[in-house]
Amino acid sequence: TRIAIERAGTWLLRATGDEFIRLSVGAQPDPYPAYARLRARESLYRNKLGAVTATFEHCNLVLRDRRFGVQRTDGRLPRFFDTLAMARGPEVVQSFLELDPPDHTRLRKLSRPAFGPARLDGYRPLIESITHDLLDRATAKDNFDLIADFAGPLPIRVISELLGIPPVDTDRFLGYGRVLAQALDGITSLRLARELRTATDEMYALFRTLMAAKREHPEADVLTQLTEAHDAGELTLPELLATCELLLVAGFETTVNLIGNSTFALLNHPGQWGLLRDDPGLARAAAEETLRYDPPVQQTVRVAHEKVELAGTRIRENELVFVMIGATGRDPAVFANPEVFDITRTPEREHLAFSSGIHYCLGAPLARLEAEIALRALAERLPDLALDGTPRRRPSAGIRGLLRLPVRASHGK
Ligand code: HEM
Repeated sequence: TRIAIERAGTWLLRATGDEFIRLSVGAQPDPYPAYARLRARESLYRNKLGAVTATFEHCNLVLRDRRFGVQRTDGRLPRFFDTLAMARGPEVVQSFLELDPPDHTRLRKLSRPAFGPARLDGYRPLIESITHDLLDRATAKDNFDLIADFAGPLPIRVISELLGIPPVDTDRFLGYGRVLAQALDGITSLRLARELRTATDEMYALFRTLMAAKREHPEADVLTQLTEAHDAGELTLPELLATCELLLVAGFETTVNLIGNSTFALLNHPGQWGLLRDDPGLARAAAEETLRYDPPVQQTVRVAHEKVELAGTRIRENELVFVMIGATGRDPAVFANPEVFDITRTPEREHLAFSSGIHYCLGAPLARLEAEIALRALAERLPDLALDGTPRRRPSAGIRGLLRLPVRASHGK
């Protein structure tokens, strides 16, 4: 294990040179001019890591076309995942986000019921009660941090409830989630590689303990369902652990940024905030516009399963193709006035913020519901909400969001 960690660390330190940084536009305060340059190219931008697609049409094609997948055709792991996997040890398997059919199909299906429309309406009272509880506490002071006090804890509490993680364990899972999310941005130090290993071991041990508890006392939560499926031979233990981890991290690290980016965009466009304040029924549309305008997930990656000719560029079998989701929502070939943040717009097409094709975000309806409830509550309870200090951006290329968003409001107590 030690040798694997050292190798993983050394490899990534090498990979964080120029090539890697060029793909990090998503971490810039304003990456959108750089995306426009990528979109305007005649042929695809390409470096040692792979090719880059940035127009809506090309990104949509790569996400939907069966000539692209997420695994290599020779059974080896793509380079990024390879490094992560090496740091974590051989007993950790890929989650279905990183698997092609048929494994992807089998595992996604087992998690799907919990996130379907039938269940969703039932979550509304839970999400509303968590939202108002958090706002009661945050607004006890005039100034608060919209991320730390509201947008951050909300999705964590919701996904913990859905999975069936008892409140006493939530803080521990939160700590693991942080380490894992940091690792997804690149394992840039040996210290992080070691932390990742420890977090994985502890998190999996805790999941195994919880599984035993669910067998004793089955409940209507995802962990109970997955434990039953495991005991019926439908998925292995490593697959179950990878699935739980995926749901946890996806629930922790994305919705916080949808709520944060939406609020930030609204407060930076006071006219738009005014519209929402006057008609809180626009909350869902405001979240949807943010998904187009400033999406939490800025990029993903695919592997060519055969030789593909795309935009005058020959892509080799097993070459990586980076899909710059962040660039697609502002593509003038699809959206009229794409640089304008307008929560009353009727978009020409659905954005790609939740991806497209078979890996389309499983949690999209849940994320939309959480953001809608959160933005509506802000507009109804804190009509004079305003920025109050300097926000701090998360230094990540893949996930775009704020670590800190200081605000003030005098109402709502
Ligand atoms: C997949 C975005 C919230 C669960 C994805 C993908 C994107 C995405 C872009 C696909 C990545 C790819 O194609 O390579 C988002 C955004 C969210 C969000 C922007 C919030 C605003 C959630 C939530 C959950 C969730 C709350 C639930 C716990 C998943 C899962 C997948 C996924 C399980 C894998 C789907 C598959 O591979 O078939 N998400 N997500 N997401 N998301 Fe989300």
